[in-house]
Amino acid sequence: MKLLDGKLCAAEVRTELKARVARLAAEGKKVVLAVVRIGDDPASEIYIRNKVRACDEVGIVPVVRILPADTSQAEAEAVVSALSSDPEICGILVQLPLPAGLDEARIMRLIPPEKDVDGFSAQNLGLLASDRPATVACTPQGVMELLRRNMIPLAGKRAVVIGRSNIVGRPMALLLLNADATVTVCHSKTQGLAAICREADLLVCAVGRPNFVTADMVKEGAVVVDVGINRTAGKLCGDVDFAAVAPHTSYITPVPGGVGPMTVAMLLKNCVDAAERQL
Ligand code: GUN
Repeated sequence: MKLLDGKLCAAEVRTELKARVARLAAEGKKVVLAVVRIGDDPASEIYIRNKVRACDEVGIVPVVRILPADTSQAEAEAVVSALSSDPEICGILVQLPLPAGLDEARIMRLIPPEKDVDGFSAQNLGLLASDRPATVACTPQGVMELLRRNMIPLAGKRAVVIGRSNIVGRPMALLLLNADATVTVCHSKTQGLAAICREADLLVCAVGRPNFVTADMVKEGAVVVDVGINRTAGKLCGDVDFAAVAPHTSYITPVPGGVGPMTVAMLLKNCVDAAERQL
């Protein structure tokens, strides 16, 4: 069993990005990422802190807008619209989830596809679905980058994705399909989950439940990617019962230090890509 070290891999990506940010600066282009947080979701606070720290490291200028939980739909839309039309801003990210009562789709629709560094817009998702990807959602893109940098082959392999969210499961399945894997997507209504998972050469889990993937669900020698970030008794853990599953795998991601750092690195990459296209 080998660990897929996302911390190490993300540090490599950041080093590469730092050079691209410096080249842009030499041409007079500042890379500016706007981050909007509405309300006080504690996980969002931590995610944004990590994103800002990573921006600082590569020379991207973060602009954080924090709005109160009782922000009206009109106020939220006004803030996002202003960022959208600001030529200084290269990328915009509205941290999810939003407080109940706000219409997420209507707010996200105000981010133009060329500034959509999360890759959540209909245009970016549609391009990915038709195998002409432009900006790809950060977490699944981070998983692909982690696999690529560890030279894990995907063509012809059986991949099983557990979870069908717009943020992770769906784009993950599309990326693996585009990479010529044979892809199965499982979800909460799937029957016979364990047997399907046992077929997988690559198993990606994104359900948000500790110890969801157990040893009986993993084929000997499979690659296991754990996208979950769960807090149990103050400790971070993923969706995979790591201690029981790891000995049966060829490669496995740890939590923390696996997919999480790659997600942030891909956000930075999407932002630098956007800045280069805007130049
Ligand atoms: N909430 C959880 N993950 C994400 C993400 O990747 N982007 C945004 N904007 N919000 C999130």
